[in-house]
Amino acid sequence: MSSQWADQPYPLISTLAFSKDTSHAANYVATEMALAHNGMIRGLNSIYLQAPLIPSSDSAIIRDFLTYCQCWCESMHHHHDSEEETFFPTIERISGIEGLMAENIEQHRAFTPGFQALHEYVRTCAPKDYDGAKLKSLVEGFADPLTKHLHDEIGTLRALDKYDSKQVRQAYKQLEKLMMDTDNVRPPQSEREHGADEITVPDSATRVWNCG
Ligand SMILES: [Fe+2]
Repeated sequence: MSSQWADQPYPLISTLAFSKDTSHAANYVATEMALAHNGMIRGLNSIYLQAPLIPSSDSAIIRDFLTYCQCWCESMHHHHDSEEETFFPTIERISGIEGLMAENIEQHRAFTPGFQALHEYVRTCAPKDYDGAKLKSLVEGFADPLTKHLHDEIGTLRALDKYDSKQVRQAYKQLEKLMMDTDNVRPPQSEREHGADEITVPDSATRVWNCG
């Protein structure tokens, strides 16, 4: 039996062109972000590939799989919220260009409705109602704009090589620290100024994701 890996159908980001270039921190930041994004793409692929294979008669496995999907959704929320609240504004300050990251924020909005639909489904679906084909179609509803964004953001970060290298590295380190300090989990709804969904997955489950 041949093995199927989570590196398709949605393609991973190659870092070969810049990961060994130490001439500017923009390459380091782009590499770290690409690796974090590849973790998200692998998670997306694994959900897409596994969804139709989950046995409909085994409610324990269905429940575990839905929890796994919720972990992935929470990780996605946390990553993009942190970028918008901390990392992107810092990058704009360093560059002195207001709106430099606006296209990336617009791309976040482009995949949000479809992503929220998936999150809602995996959060509320009872095991007896699980429908792998539906879950797969929900992924198809936002995967293209999401993966386009995850790829495009790396180009934006590589282009930061015209600004102060030390400050660019510090901006990423600040984001990384925020991610680690909050354990890759968003604070509860009551502690957020905005947000859509309650966290319903155990802390221990979400720690498998490292978006740093
Ligand atoms: Fe990112």
